[in-house]
Amino acid sequence: MHLANLYIIFLLQMLVVPSAAELSARELDSLLQDYAFRALVRPRTGIVYDGNVSSNLTGVRVAALRLRSGSLRRKGVSRYKEFHIPIGVVEQPYVQRLVLVYHNLANWSSLYYPLPGYNFLAPILGLLAYDASNLSATGLTELDFRAAEESITMEFSGVQPGQEGSSSAKCVHFDLDGSVEFDRVISTNTCSTTKQGHYSIVVESISPAPAPATGGGGNSEAGGGSTVSGGGKGHRKVGIIVGPAVGGAILLACLSMLFYCAYRCRRRKKIQKMEEISEMGVALPMTRVGYTKAPVALETRTRPLLENEFVP
Ligand SMILES: *[C@@H]1O[C@H](CO)[C@@H](O)[C@H](O)[C@H]1NC(C)=O
Ligand SMILES: *[C@@H]1O[C@H](CO)[C@@H](O)[C@H](O)[C@H]1NC(C)=O
Ligand SMILES: *[C@@H]1O[C@H](CO)[C@@H](O)[C@H](O)[C@H]1NC(C)=O
Ligand SMILES: *[C@@H]1O[C@H](CO)[C@@H](O)[C@H](O)[C@H]1NC(C)=O
Repeated sequence: MHLANLYIIFLLQMLVVPSAAELSARELDSLLQDYAFRALVRPRTGIVYDGNVSSNLTGVRVAALRLRSGSLRRKGVSRYKEFHIPIGVVEQPYVQRLVLVYHNLANWSSLYYPLPGYNFLAPILGLLAYDASNLSATGLTELDFRAAEESITMEFSGVQPGQEGSSSAKCVHFDLDGSVEFDRVISTNTCSTTKQGHYSIVVESISPAPAPATGGGGNSEAGGGSTVSGGGKGHRKVGIIVGPAVGGAILLACLSMLFYCAYRCRRRKKIQKMEEISEMGVALPMTRVGYTKAPVALETRTRPLLENEFVP
């Protein structure tokens, strides 16, 4: 079960890489950090400031919230847009003050975070933390943060109970390193997380035919009505999935062959070495025979029984 999940994550990582967007998701993070920080002009601690984005990103929303890290840990933030941050959230490395940057990627979600085979039921939200010591800094790297006691929760608006296919809806978490994890939905429109990244709710749109070991997969066709794309686009989507899936399978096969060969090779070497050691290990006493030295056994371990001993 766990292995199957890993395999799916592995496949998805391969699927997620190509994107039609001009910027990579990480470059977008960096750009949005800049736009969010621009909203912080002599900011008050604990107040949410909405930022503006450039016209080529119309629809994307950003916000910034500056906090003392001690206050974040002890009090949390009961409401930050769609997020609820409980007590016990700690950043790594430690900074005195930090800025929590909020993203709502709206209609840009699937452009920056393409997830073939799934439809987004909600826009992608992001929650990233930065050091607040220089509010005019650009190109900052994110702080790692973890919810140690309770999970951070987020309530997506616009996900209706009983929405087509929403019974098979899943929470999806995109980590900053590009990995994708799925989790179950808490009460229709709520997801939880323990770390930074981007989040949404998705539903399977088409049957990922070549994906092995997913058990049922039967009801994936049922949500067909929610797929907006026409037949042609559907075929292209299938192609997009089949390609990397087959590629992935081949790659996996090659990798396992390689590992097997390496294993065999090491084993053979080990046995050879063991043989050498065993040969060298028994130090036989030497004796001089003429001009050469020859090993000699002092005593025999099993005394030979002579047949004729029994002969009277
Ligand atoms: C964002 O744009 C609005 C409208 O143009 C403006 O009133 C507001 O001050 C801007 N905010 C920032 C942080 O630049
Ligand atoms: C939008 O334009 C700004 C400059 O105005 C540029 O820095 C940024 O990379 C552009 N964003 C995208 C997504 O193309
Ligand atoms: C998102 O919607 C805005 C208008 O609200 C539009 O200008 C923009 O091009 C759209 N983005 C995408 C990726 O379609
Ligand atoms: C803050 O960052 C900006 C842009 O990177 C830089 O020019 C400035 O010197 C920095 N200020 C401090 C106090 O480090």
